Amino acid sequence: MKPLVILTHPMPSGWVAGLEKEVRLVTGPANTANVSPDLQPHFAEAEGLLTWLIDRVDEALLAQMPRLKVVSNLAVGVDNIDLEACTRRGIAVGHTPGVLTEAVADLTMGLLLAVARGIPAAAADARAGRWGLWRPDGWLGREMHGATIGICGLGQIGQAVARRAAAFGLRVLYTSRRPKPKAEAAGGARRVPWATLLRESDFLSLHCPLTAETRGLVDARALRQMKPTAYLINMARGPVVDTAALTQALQQGWIAGAALDVTDPEPLPPQHPLYRLPNCLITPHIGSATETTRRRMADLAVANLLAGLRGEPLPHCANPAVYEQAP
Ligand code: DGY
Repeated sequence: MKPLVILTHPMPSGWVAGLEKEVRLVTGPANTANVSPDLQPHFAEAEGLLTWLIDRVDEALLAQMPRLKVVSNLAVGVDNIDLEACTRRGIAVGHTPGVLTEAVADLTMGLLLAVARGIPAAAADARAGRWGLWRPDGWLGREMHGATIGICGLGQIGQAVARRAAAFGLRVLYTSRRPKPKAEAAGGARRVPWATLLRESDFLSLHCPLTAETRGLVDARALRQMKPTAYLINMARGPVVDTAALTQALQQGWIAGAALDVTDPEPLPPQHPLYRLPNCLITPHIGSATETTRRRMADLAVANLLAGLRGEPLPHCANPAVYEQAP
């Protein structure tokens, strides 16, 4: 009998074609955040689980899935998954690094340019008939060339942003758990303490994973240390930034503006005051949202899943400690 695999939500047509021949598939509903209770009758039999970043995989869920061998997350971030609980149970966790690096770095530069040059407001003015005559002091933005970008988290995505930033003529500073000598040699990025990054950045761009250490990293105290002319870009995870503190910072001019591709909570409710601030630009977690990248993520998620079902090492495993355990 083929193994049973749960897709927590329907995948676009053809994106998991590689699975259909190998496994029996059960699919959860489209519009439910998290793993739907409707799937509960299949938990006992499931050997594979394909999750989205909106699904919480915790001890309580895993306890209902005694046959589970592999969780394959359609994301590079795995903060929605209790990795330790999976490792304890011998369950490999797959994720999708690498394939989304360039798309996320592209959007980072897009948001940076959008807030620095006030593109959304200028476009809205033009559309609304507020263009008027050209004048030399109309819609003045910030120059990128010669400014400083501070990158928090110089992993693959942070490095791709550093390359682009250097090409725009930005000075690149970064913080990272470990020094990245290759990236420093290639793009002239310089590792500095967190306090220096906050103090010197004209653009502070977040690319770190969400961990116990980074949750709430950009709080009121951090925002107070930034330049009043600085912009914050969050491409990491919403809870890295304290939303209430950021709202106050933008309302009171502690910093000049923010662009957020991720928020806390997610989605940010439509009545949230951040949407009404002209110095805040919010996009709905679209960093990796290109046709090519999302297909590659799906292909990798399928490859991780199939390897895990066969008991083989996953192409990209987020909890390699699972292989060090005694059988
Ligand atoms: C990820 O993969 O973690 C991104 O946030 C979504 O593509």
